[in-house]
Amino acid sequence: MTDSTAQLRTASYEADPADVRRVLLLYSGGLDTSVMLKWIQDSYEAEVVCLTVNLGQPGEDYAVIEDKAKRLGALECHVVDARREFAEEYVLPAIKANALYGGGYPLFTALGRPLIAKLAVEHARRAGCDTIAHGCTGKGNDQVRIEATVATLAPELKTIAPVRSWQMGREEEIAYAREHDIPIKGGAEVAPYSIDDNLWGRSSEGRWIEDLEHAPEDDVFQLVTRPEEAPDQAETVTVEFERGVPVALNGERLELVELLERTAEVGCRHGVGIVDHIEDRIVGLKVRDIYEVPAAAILLTAHQELEKLVGTIHQNQAKPDLDRQWAYLVYAGLWWEPLRADLDALMDSVNVQVSGTIGLKLFKGSVRVVTRRSPNAVYDADLASFTESGGLFSQTASPGFIELWSLQSRMAHRIRARGVGG
Ligand code: ARG
Repeated sequence: MTDSTAQLRTASYEADPADVRRVLLLYSGGLDTSVMLKWIQDSYEAEVVCLTVNLGQPGEDYAVIEDKAKRLGALECHVVDARREFAEEYVLPAIKANALYGGGYPLFTALGRPLIAKLAVEHARRAGCDTIAHGCTGKGNDQVRIEATVATLAPELKTIAPVRSWQMGREEEIAYAREHDIPIKGGAEVAPYSIDDNLWGRSSEGRWIEDLEHAPEDDVFQLVTRPEEAPDQAETVTVEFERGVPVALNGERLELVELLERTAEVGCRHGVGIVDHIEDRIVGLKVRDIYEVPAAAILLTAHQELEKLVGTIHQNQAKPDLDRQWAYLVYAGLWWEPLRADLDALMDSVNVQVSGTIGLKLFKGSVRVVTRRSPNAVYDADLASFTESGGLFSQTASPGFIELWSLQSRMAHRIRARGVGG
């Protein structure tokens, strides 16, 4: 134990430095967690086991990360490919719930964290660790999602969050890295954007993004083609759903991970899924994020449209409120809250009917629904038609309906017309 670890502990699940013997570190290979890997060994005189989780973040070389961890003294480094579990158990419920927080953020990070933390618990137990360490700061939502998960699933495990306590800024971290022979990816000259990504999307924070008057600079878009550079030809894609699950893209049946990746590819090409988002974090701060969410822009649009087609007016009135509640719980780090499972049961029930195919036209950044087909559509072209409806819909019944439907409103209007207090 050193001075910098001797912090006041406010929560029951925070580790007492004297008890930290073996730490499971959630390791990304970046500057923070690489410095952390050395720092934990030095400051706590503890052993470190690393865990790196593949959720489909593009361009990652896991062999390099593993090698780096070992060279920095990790006892073991586990790399877990959790793409399938992420897609099926986390992204799929989000699709069924049309999940967008704050009207624009499809929750890719918020969905990934409870899975990463659950895997950390499993690996910590298996490797005989007493503590889990992560690289989140004290200002974000991710610390909440990870620590709430660990505290819920593994009351016997403690956590440490060195970035919250070690009082090193970027400059000090770089100095520490140089001093301890820790290689710095991509050089140390310009501070990079703060990036998080997985197969459901990518976020950038920091630098000019913090200046609300600063319009996005081109170099922030590493995934999606800038709309002005996207093809001049529009492209129409079809997405087929079975019971709320996307199962085919352009008529080709695909397993979910591949379907998400292929949908992202076509969206990227057409500049689809750029979101410049002002967001209310649960820790009180308001921040700006630049999101690139090509797959979500296409699949959520398609799912929502199909769901609306097969739902009744009453389901379609109620569902968005519940969707919003679902998104808020997940955003707020309460993945394991029973209400989420309750809501999922409802989402699954509604989605039993959500089968069919939606066609979407992609063009220079926009996604527009152009065709719909479902055996379960609560739609009858003959009834809806302006031409003769064959006697199934009686227009002569309409006046009676209108009289009763408007009864209370008409009465109230008359009462108010008499003036306040009658
Ligand atoms: N604002 C988003 C969220 O709270 C994205 C956070 C990205 N995380 C990160 N460590 N850069 O879910």
